[in-house]
Amino acid sequence: MINVADFEAVAAEKLEPGVLGYFAGGAGDEVTLRENVAAWGRWRLRPRMLTGLSEWGTGVELLGAELAMPLLIAPVAYQRLVDPEGEVAMARAAAAAGTVMCLSTLATTRPRDLAEAVPEGRRWFQLYCFKDEGVTRALMDEAVEGGFEAIVVTVDAPRGGNRERDLRTGFKIPEGLGVPSVEAALGSDRAVTIEETFALMEPALSWSRLEELASECDVPVLVKGVLCDEDARLAIEHGAAGVVVSNHGGRQLDRVPAGGDALPEAVDAIEGRGAVLVDGGIRRGVDVAIALALGADAVLVGRPALWGLAVGGEAGARRVLELLRRELELVLCLCGCASPAELTRAHVQRAPAPSLYSG
Ligand SMILES: Cc1cc2nc3c(=O)[nH]c(=O)nc-3n(C[C@H](O)[C@H](O)[C@H](O)COP(=O)(O)O)c2cc1C
Repeated sequence: MINVADFEAVAAEKLEPGVLGYFAGGAGDEVTLRENVAAWGRWRLRPRMLTGLSEWGTGVELLGAELAMPLLIAPVAYQRLVDPEGEVAMARAAAAAGTVMCLSTLATTRPRDLAEAVPEGRRWFQLYCFKDEGVTRALMDEAVEGGFEAIVVTVDAPRGGNRERDLRTGFKIPEGLGVPSVEAALGSDRAVTIEETFALMEPALSWSRLEELASECDVPVLVKGVLCDEDARLAIEHGAAGVVVSNHGGRQLDRVPAGGDALPEAVDAIEGRGAVLVDGGIRRGVDVAIALALGADAVLVGRPALWGLAVGGEAGARRVLELLRRELELVLCLCGCASPAELTRAHVQRAPAPSLYSG
């Protein structure tokens, strides 16, 4: 297996159809799911020659901390569906790769246990807000006490998207696979289901609530799910340290722009006042380079790391991360950039429109 597509193909053979549909699928007609990948392919690189460089590195600084590469693990729910160690194995892979894993609220490991299992790992926590503010607070406190370095508030899921693959396969999260973070915050001694968890979430989030959260939180708060310049600007004005330009991997509202297509306007709106991350469809090191050239500080990957975990557990996820890092390093070298920070909009141009004769 030499690239992410190879891992995806092997994972697709290995996983049972319901589980595969849950991880691979998107909402509605999956237009946005496909566009996420396609959008990066609509750019071409403008490499520079004779730059006199002989060393290249993928290291970056993000929110004041060093990372081995500008690529983090996106929050992905229920990772024990594909590996018995789930999020713990994923966090070990991220630690070995020198990057951050963002743990989902809907993870099968609670923040405190992840911190204990992988103390050396760098971690962020993805927060869903609950109607009961005490639950939201308890989740946030557990993460901050457990050394999670940022809170990523996901704002694009007041309800779950219309995932037709799950309807067709009849997929349900197996009984007994609960949501330990939420169980702990509720003080529940039994597994809570995904349906129960969604029913407890707050659909009516507002910018003032976000501002309150950010002001009560001792670590930086990022807003995940922003797709337009208005919301990018509002996030910063309401105390966020940055945004994640994201459409939830095409799983929420179908026919919204791809992450790569929404990125430039968010970058322009934020004007350096906060961090800009992007996710959706990153499958190659060159996709990462294009995102950075368009102004992102870093990217996240969801499914690629998940396919690695499904195929080979911790070692599989580690291999996917290393493949992407190496691909990025080679692109940097061939573009004449010593580091990711040197990529600018001058390093990309739009791909030509397909010709009548291009077959
Ligand atoms: C199966 C699955 C579960 C996800 N669960 C969450 C979640 O719990 N919270 C969240 O903010 N995003 C969640 N996401 C979205 C990812 O964080 C990320 O935005 C998306 O996967 C990026 O697209 P990619 O998979 O093409 O890299 C999930 C994505 C997938 C595929």
